[in-house]
Amino acid sequence: MSINRISALFGIRYPIIQAGMVWCSGWKLAAAVSNAGGLGLIGAGSMHPGTLREHIQKYKAATGQPFGVNVPLMYPQIEEIMQIILEEKVPVVFTSAGNPKTWTATLKSAGIKVAHVVSSSRFAIKCAEAGVDAVVAEGFEAGGHNGREETTTFALIPQVRKAIDLPLIAAGGIGSGEAMAAAFALGAEGVQVGTRFALTNESSASEAFKQRCISLNEGDTVLSLKKLSPTRLVRNEFYQQVQQLEDRGATPEELRELLGKGRSKRGIFDGDLTEGELEIGQIASHIKEIIPAGQVVNEMIGQYNRTIHRLSQLAIDN
Ligand SMILES: Cc1cc2nc3c(=O)[nH]c(=O)nc-3n(C[C@H](O)[C@H](O)[C@H](O)COP(=O)(O)O)c2cc1C
Repeated sequence: MSINRISALFGIRYPIIQAGMVWCSGWKLAAAVSNAGGLGLIGAGSMHPGTLREHIQKYKAATGQPFGVNVPLMYPQIEEIMQIILEEKVPVVFTSAGNPKTWTATLKSAGIKVAHVVSSSRFAIKCAEAGVDAVVAEGFEAGGHNGREETTTFALIPQVRKAIDLPLIAAGGIGSGEAMAAAFALGAEGVQVGTRFALTNESSASEAFKQRCISLNEGDTVLSLKKLSPTRLVRNEFYQQVQQLEDRGATPEELRELLGKGRSKRGIFDGDLTEGELEIGQIASHIKEIIPAGQVVNEMIGQYNRTIHRLSQLAIDN
């Protein structure tokens, strides 16, 4: 594949980004993806500042390939997290869940490449105004926290493409090279892949969580917790409790109380499949095997190339 704006921006071989994911994306997953030619992101969202520094240092000891850190901007100790990123000279930061104007200038003045995650064209334009280097447009198929607009990747990417000229990365429901080709057909130049990499050997999610996710069928995840922060969850017992509360018109405070602290750790990292919050994307039902992350990258590139070739033979005379 020839170099495009995303691979050139991050200095990587393939424009495949491994998404930052709470309780899944430590240094091991990021190193496996970057060593295979993609861009690995360490997910700061579930790390204490000291833990983040440790992961960055272990990553650097493991490989010299480019990498990044994902920072959800709602993070309580955000100042400390950003300080560590600056001190450790992290080359790339993907920010999410907040205003791109808050940190972009500081990060960019330190020579860091910045991408921000959005779920609408409106916020993509705000990203351009904030001076980010690239935009991730994430459709509501995605695992984890989601946009309130509930726009699917297929509907979102062409609209964001039309709204901004910046390098564009598609996310949400992309777990294969065929899906990557579809995203590129719609105007994306890179893909951010979460669910497929959460379900690999190097992901730090528990084995119980991974096995549950690869046994899911279509329709087994649902966008929940809409009164707090819409999150795609597996329909397990914890989700049923949320649903019951929502059905009887619970307030955000009541929902917050049920959620408590550490629900996603309990589900994803500790493997409590009943009481834990199991965050995963719709595409999980298409994934049937836990394989090494490097193999995911290689397979995606092979599938992408075969798809492009196949489609090139399908031109319709008009
Ligand atoms: C388990 C899990 C945890 C996630 N945690 C984060 C996070 O901490 N920060 C973030 O920006 N996005 C998070 N996401 C969203 C991903 O970064 C990514 O955009 C999304 O997974 C892409 O869609 P896909 O899951 O269909 O591949 C998470 C997704 C999953 C599945």
